[in-house]
Parts: sequence; structure tokens; C-alpha cells
Amino acid sequence: MARRIITTEKMNEDVTIETSLRPRFLKDYIGQEKIKSTLNIYIEAAKQRGETLDHVLLFGPPGLGKTTLANIIANEMGVDIKTTSGPAIEKPGDIVAVIKGLREGDILFIDEIHRLNRQVEEVLYSAMEDFFIDVVIGTGGTNAKSMHIRLPKFTLIGATTRAGMLTAPLRDRFGVVSRMEFYSEEELRTIVRNSARALKIDIDAEGAEELARRSRGTPRLANRFLKRVRDFAQVTSDGKIDGEIARYALDRLEVDPIGLDHIDRAILMTMIEKFGGGPVGTGAVATTIGEDQGTVEDVYEPYLVQIGFILRTPRGRVVSKEAYDHLGVPYPEQKTAK
Ligand SMILES: Nc1ncnc2c1ncn2[C@@H]1O[C@H](COP(=O)(O)OP(=O)(O)O)[C@@H](O)[C@H]1O
Ligand SMILES: [Mg+2]
Repeated sequence: MARRIITTEKMNEDVTIETSLRPRFLKDYIGQEKIKSTLNIYIEAAKQRGETLDHVLLFGPPGLGKTTLANIIANEMGVDIKTTSGPAIEKPGDIVAVIKGLREGDILFIDEIHRLNRQVEEVLYSAMEDFFIDVVIGTGGTNAKSMHIRLPKFTLIGATTRAGMLTAPLRDRFGVVSRMEFYSEEELRTIVRNSARALKIDIDAEGAEELARRSRGTPRLANRFLKRVRDFAQVTSDGKIDGEIARYALDRLEVDPIGLDHIDRAILMTMIEKFGGGPVGTGAVATTIGEDQGTVEDVYEPYLVQIGFILRTPRGRVVSKEAYDHLGVPYPEQKTAK
């Protein structure tokens, strides 16, 4: 168990519930079998040798369990975890202050690690590789003084939605690089049932199935929908969630039968109506629907690619026939002919 957990994450109600639903050990972490089995070996090996764990990079879309896994690794190793994020560390001094406070074996978790600035990143190189930092104190000229600081051996866990945005030297310093996968419906069903039990929510098999099917392969959404659907169940009936109430509530939330929300549909419809189904760049699509390009690429597109609705081609993104069919838009004949 972790000795103590320090977090800079802002706490609101959703975050509090999210934290309370987080599994704490690998055995309770559903799915991600490949990552789990390799991590388990690295953790056991490090523990047997009495060494610290190699640096770990977790990447993948939001809500798939990166933060949860970082905390589990700390619990399994029996060490402290200190959490911060790329945007929170503005200058080299900030990262030095954070790392200096660690003890041997502790974990430093940097969320959104792709958003570290270059100067801070460079401090990390030597910290990660050789466990020292050289910092320049003072304003330069004769005032400047260089200090060589030895660090405790720590484990850095980085999380990012965009592995492609990490610089090569930073990426290369992670001994373990794991890509998070979307969850199967069956895995999400288990997560929904476990969360329902923890929150004392009454849900039947069909209700859990409906939630799993509409959660875009994402545990965070499954948990969020569970709470929202409970509200509907409580107000409109006896509080028990069955298939019917789940369908009703999720329809009201504009989540369609396969889990697409209004932004997913806006992306696809824009690509179809304004760009002839593609090829088109995500930047143009994002501008048209008034969304941030990064959000479209990190949050929305990966799932649409996963289910085969968007195809990535060298010339840009293309909408597949399956997507046209799902949206009830006739597939242009010249595309079939090609
Ligand atoms: N493998 C899992 N098993 C059970 N619950 C999970 C799993 N992964 C994520 N969750 C749930 O989903 C929520 C979001 O996960 P989180 O770790 O915050 O995702 P990320 O950091 O990748 O955005 C967590 O609060 C947790 O309840
Ligand atoms: Mg996270």
C-alpha cells in the first residue's frame, strides 16, 4: 500500500467519485491484459532485486486508466507517488523542487507529459538516466552558479494522450512504453457492475450491457453514465437501472446506441457534408465544428478510427461506408465504383 499520496489534481465531485472508484491493485484492474502481465513481471523482478522500477510511459486516449494504473504501480511497489502534470511545471526549478522531495524508489507521476516545456524536459534527461540534475542558479554572468544535485533513484511514470508529441530523447528514456487499448464490452460490463456495487446502485444485466455498449470503450464514460442513469432511474422510477431506463437516459444524453455523442456525429457529418467524405485534415474539420484540433485528434478520432468509421490515409481522413450507414446517409455511388 502507498505510504502517502500527494496530488495536485483539483478535486471536484466527479474527481472525488472517480478516485473512489479507482481499483487499487492490479488484480482489480479490468482488461489491458498485455500491459498488466508485463508490468506484473517488471514489478515482481524489481521487488525481488530490491531495485526501483524502470521509468514507465503510458499513452492512449483519455479515460482508459492511465492515472489509475500509475497509482496501482505505486501500491504494488509499496512506494509513495507524487503527482503533477506537464502544464503545472513551468520552469526547471519547479521540477527540481518536486524531484528533490522524493525518496529512493518513489514514483513521480507526470500527467500530460507531452506538455512539458523544452527546458524542463532537458532537466529530466539527466534526472531519468543518471539521477542527477545540473542547475544554474542566479541571473547569469558573475552571479550565475552551477549546482550539481544528486537525486534519489526514483521511477518516473509519464502519461500522455499523444505519444507522437514526445521528443525522441525523452521517449527513449522510458524503459517501459505501454499503449492503452480501448476496452471490450465485456470488460466494461464488469467495470459497470463493480462500480454499481461500490456506489450501491441497483442495476440488472441488461442495464449493464446497455451502458457498456454505449461507453465508447472507455471506463471513465462507463462510470459517468452509470451515475447519470442512476439519476434518471431515481427520479422516473424506483431507482433500479434496467435496459429500458438505461436506453431512455442515454438517449436523453444524446449518446446513440453505439456510444457516439453529438460531437462524434458532428465530426462525421461535417466530413460528409462539407468535405465530400474526405480525404480531409483534422484541422479543417475541427475549425468547421468549432472544436480544438487537439481535442478532435486525442479525444474523438481514436475511437472513430477504432470502430472503422474514420480511415486514416496518406492524403487525410476518410469516412467509411459503415459510418454513412450508421448515420443513415446514402453512400455516394462513385465511391463504391472506385
Ligand atoms: N482497468 C480499469 N478497471 C476498472 N476501472 C477503471 C479501469 N481503468 C479506468 N477505470 C476507471 O475509469 C476512471 C478513469 O480512469 P483514469 O485512470 O483517470 O484514466 P486516464 O488517466 O487514462 O484518463 C477511473 O476513475 C476508474 O474508476
Ligand atoms: Mg489521467
